[in-house]
Amino acid sequence: MSDQLNNPERRKLLKTLGTMTAAGVTNTVLPGCTAENNAQRENLTFKEIPHSLDFQHHIPEDYSADILLRWGDPVQETDSDFHPEKLSATEQQKRFGYNNDFIAFMPLAKNAPSGRGDLHLNSGNSSHGLLCVNHEYTQPHLMFPGYNDAYSATRGVSAEHVAIEQAACGHSIVEIKQGKDGWRLVPGSPYNRRITMTTAMNIIGPAAGNKRLQTTADPSGTQVLGTVGNCAGGKTPWGTVLIAEEGFGGAFQGNPQQINDPREARNHHSFGISQKNRNLGDYDRRFDIQVEPNEPNRFGWMVEYDPYDPHSRPRKLTTLGRFEHEGFTLVCKPGQAVVAYGGDDDEHQFVYRFVSRGTYQPDKYQANRELLSEGTLYAARFNESGDGQWLPLIYGQGPLSEKNGFYNQADVLIDARRAAALLGATPMDRPEDVETNPHNDCTYVMLTKNKNRQKDEIDAANPRAKNSMGHVLEIVPPGINGKRDHTSDSFRWQQFLLGGNPNAEHPEERGAYGQQSNYNISAHGWFANPDNVAFDRHGNMWIATDGCERFGFHDGLWAMATEGPLRAAPKHFFGCPRGAEVCGPEFTPDGTTLFVAVQHPAEARNSTYENPLHRWPDNDPRMPPRPSVLAIYRNDDKEVGS
Ligand code: FEO
Ligand code: CA
Ligand code: CA
Ligand code: CA
Repeated sequence: MSDQLNNPERRKLLKTLGTMTAAGVTNTVLPGCTAENNAQRENLTFKEIPHSLDFQHHIPEDYSADILLRWGDPVQETDSDFHPEKLSATEQQKRFGYNNDFIAFMPLAKNAPSGRGDLHLNSGNSSHGLLCVNHEYTQPHLMFPGYNDAYSATRGVSAEHVAIEQAACGHSIVEIKQGKDGWRLVPGSPYNRRITMTTAMNIIGPAAGNKRLQTTADPSGTQVLGTVGNCAGGKTPWGTVLIAEEGFGGAFQGNPQQINDPREARNHHSFGISQKNRNLGDYDRRFDIQVEPNEPNRFGWMVEYDPYDPHSRPRKLTTLGRFEHEGFTLVCKPGQAVVAYGGDDDEHQFVYRFVSRGTYQPDKYQANRELLSEGTLYAARFNESGDGQWLPLIYGQGPLSEKNGFYNQADVLIDARRAAALLGATPMDRPEDVETNPHNDCTYVMLTKNKNRQKDEIDAANPRAKNSMGHVLEIVPPGINGKRDHTSDSFRWQQFLLGGNPNAEHPEERGAYGQQSNYNISAHGWFANPDNVAFDRHGNMWIATDGCERFGFHDGLWAMATEGPLRAAPKHFFGCPRGAEVCGPEFTPDGTTLFVAVQHPAEARNSTYENPLHRWPDNDPRMPPRPSVLAIYRNDDKEVGS
């Protein structure tokens, strides 16, 4: 434990300060999510690293970080060494993609066959498994020579470049093993696989087959090629991985105003489809809405696939709605409906919940696989008083009728944003990860920032105008710890922390941590722009950030308790090289390895392939910066954080 946290004055401060947030909003601290003191955070004894801003990654003393996977590393057997200037689309299909984001570690059991995901998953093996990694988007100005202005590099240079970029997006599945000298990928593993912008997938659920999903290539509206904008995701206890389609609009070109159907024009416009977007559609015509006006409706979904079956076909789950999905994470309790939480990462968009129609039976591994294909999607309303409601997105109920352009449940799911707004859901400050802490059964919403929130739009759930620092909100379903009812349509909520520096002069940049108090946090303990989140085996929360460089230091990871006197008192664990955000965080089941994804290293004004800000992680003058996944562990192999 650091000196800082042993400081009795600070502890006293933590206990005595009230529940005042930086914006002056008081919130009753709810019993249940704060009353139960336990050993959380007390075991976060790592030596905190300082804020910094340089060209390296940073970990605490007595830890190691293996560079496990870099853009271009071979996932399948390849013919040559990787170099961006020699790269073909066929080669990129076999190699680790660009801009790694979400990470799922799926254990591999020693002697189980590939079809038996249940045996693999239940083995809890923490030294051998599949690493399943999203690749959100590409940055041609750092991937290829010839894009000499990072901010005007918006046009494709050739059909081959565009094909490489399509192959560099999506997802990778890679078998990895821990040995004496750290983590290594297993080359040539039959599990190793790439999913890209051209991989064939099924569309299932209420919107599948709807005429708004039909195209020239797929008159059935049930088959689609590829996934894009793969940001965060989730895992299921039935051995599948969920990957989100977030900023898919950027892949499409065309003018929504020239689409004849006003409903579709509004839909396409809301996802940022415009003539100014990159000209991918010049090379792959279905990405031009003037050619295929329905193609965008086949993106913006959650995708589920089975990493244990390398031949399985991914499927897009229309039950979970269509928006800029950050991810969906599950709460599965035996005999109860499965509950999944997710966010729409855009300004003034909503937090969502899905409740399955069927119930979760831990021993019915295969039957559980249909749980996400039938159920009800809800959007959240956060009332000023600290209570909230889940509002069902059901065709025919309330405003979700013909009068407002909804003719069936498919329309409600395709236009989930508009449905949620009509129901009166609360527009939020860009909801990123939404995840439940198994330790206290409360659900945490990362709200990253919102430059567009005006003063007269402030509410208790989004208390800052032009929110530049973000905040974390805590949802408390009814019931006691361990037996909370996530299927209930009402809940309580409160602010968990406000991003920012507790000592900042400007009140709107003043962060609040620990029981919502403005206590004098460690100089390096504060952060802004929460994005991804993970919980360790003790219920400590690990937050990954995206945006801290604007405040003078690198993005990284901060760990904190959610309970007890050190609730929401963060400690800085990991720092990115400049230009990068950190994504992923994912622990092995035993907590001894933490995987992180360093995304867009060296992204900065005027940083290009020829003249990048830096060349992390290779630091080789012949190689550009490469997005990479790191495996972080303690040198004595004990649990990370402790
Ligand atoms: Fe891709 Fe929501 O960050
Ligand atoms: Ca994210
Ligand atoms: Ca997460
Ligand atoms: Ca983000």
